[in-house]
Amino acid sequence: MNMQKPRILCVDDEPANLKLLEALLAPRGYEVIKATDGKEALEKLNEQGMDIVLLDVMMPEINGFEVCKKIKEDNRYRHIPVVMITALRSREDRIKGIEAGAEDFISKPFDHGEVLARIKMLLKIKNLNDRLNLAYDNINHLTDFGEKMIASFDTLNYDLIFSFEKVIEQIIRKKDEEAWKPEMVVLRVSGGGLTSELIKYEFSNSSLKKVSYKEGFHRCLVDAEDSRPLMFANKIDLEEPAHQPHVKLFKSLGIDVQNYVCYSSPSLCIHAVNYGWGVSSYDAAVLNSLVMQSLFLRSLSGQVRETEDAFAYTVHALARASEANDEDTGNHIIRVGEYCALISKQLGMPENFMNIIHLQAQMHDVGKIHTPAGILKKPGKLTPEEFEEMKRHTIYGGTILGEHVRLMLAKEIALSHHERWDGSGYPHGLKGEQIPLSGRMLNIADQYDALRNARVYKPAFDHQTACKIITEGDGRTMPHHFDPSVLQAFKETASQFEDVYERLKG
Ligand code: C2E
Ligand code: SIN
Ligand code: SIN
Ligand code: FE
Repeated sequence: MNMQKPRILCVDDEPANLKLLEALLAPRGYEVIKATDGKEALEKLNEQGMDIVLLDVMMPEINGFEVCKKIKEDNRYRHIPVVMITALRSREDRIKGIEAGAEDFISKPFDHGEVLARIKMLLKIKNLNDRLNLAYDNINHLTDFGEKMIASFDTLNYDLIFSFEKVIEQIIRKKDEEAWKPEMVVLRVSGGGLTSELIKYEFSNSSLKKVSYKEGFHRCLVDAEDSRPLMFANKIDLEEPAHQPHVKLFKSLGIDVQNYVCYSSPSLCIHAVNYGWGVSSYDAAVLNSLVMQSLFLRSLSGQVRETEDAFAYTVHALARASEANDEDTGNHIIRVGEYCALISKQLGMPENFMNIIHLQAQMHDVGKIHTPAGILKKPGKLTPEEFEEMKRHTIYGGTILGEHVRLMLAKEIALSHHERWDGSGYPHGLKGEQIPLSGRMLNIADQYDALRNARVYKPAFDHQTACKIITEGDGRTMPHHFDPSVLQAFKETASQFEDVYERLKG
């Protein structure tokens, strides 16, 4: 916008007056567009952007006041300053002009110096106004962007550089685009210690171009002693000592710096370089808020991840605790989670479900913590009474896991993993789809693994035998105990079951 000559629309029904204005303005770097009546003036306004309108009052058809009113009533043009040129000095006409929304008046015959001075002042005001409007649009735009970013915020897999790149794409200047944006951005991220990444971003050929630099290039910044976290500099400030480390960096990257804004901390430094207009504390504040937003999301993501790790750890610890009285079943609980993930995937379940069952399947037998060791470790067959007691581990598990929303699936599994499709299972004798899918998956996973292992009451079976018992039955286990679609998924993934067992046995 500031790159081109200011455009002045001169409106007068006297061609001689227009010539006069043109002779005055054109040599001083203004582009003069002429119109001889109100209608033409409005057409020209519509065709090209103007920076100022000089408007004669006395014109046939539509007079200057009405043209001015039309301009000021139109949202597209109201921000363009209008100067009324009038031979009339009467108070009424001035009032009429003010009412029509004119910014200024010049009396005919005009004084050249005065005309030029007024135009200069009005252009300055318009420029400031435009900047303010741009800043406002910019803030709206960034707020929208921030909202979208938070909406799509992936808590567990937050990537700071990726997030910055999205921000940079928003603020960097594209071809022929907003001159108030920076031409390039230099980002340095240190992962603590020596690892450090320096990347320069520029827009070229309609995409963000990225150049990575090796370490060592930017040592100067690490040692910058008096550098403040947030700073900006225009050409005239660059000689100051505080900017030297930054200027040195730009030099080493071959950047001819006109102005820059910088946020810097020991772990992160971001420079926005060469705004088309000079930079101000406003630009520094915009950059700062973008950086803060990204750092906030990173911190949030770190905390969420830590909590998730702690949750997964606790789930595993509780599952292990329940094995206290049981015989040593090795990695049984971990393998069962793996099998459930395989079946989930095979059945096309959502990833979220798969992740949850993968983890929480480990707790299926948590109720065994209440089952007497004498039963769990009994070398022979259980008496009917003992088996009744054994069956209660499902109910105990449900009670232990309680009501927390994060443990709903685990609870469902503990309660339903011994139910059978034909209704002959326990504890409730549920049938078919009455049994939660998670329980149906777990039932087959649990049995495959129990069959592969030696128990005090049974020997270990090899993969073929375990598969045969599940798919063809052995009297105790029968194919119609299983949900047909889960059984099918088992058949399709049986070789992967074997892989999991081999990988995680012992
Ligand atoms: P577990 O040993 O982890 O076995 C889980 C499930 O795998 C069993 O559920 C059963 O469906 C299947 N399974 C295990 N071994 C065999 C087998 O040799 N053949 C066949 N066809 N299926 C097998 P179930 O029967 O409801 O048993 C639940 C739990 O009760 C078992 O968990 C185990 O802790 C205990 N249990 C079951 N039968 C006996 C037994 O005869 N003696 C002892 N000491 N415990 C038993
Ligand atoms: C302005 O200087 O008017 C705001 C634009 C920006 O810094 O992004
Ligand atoms: C989980 O247990 O990992 C998630 C549970 C949930 O989102 O409800
Ligand atoms: Fe069980």
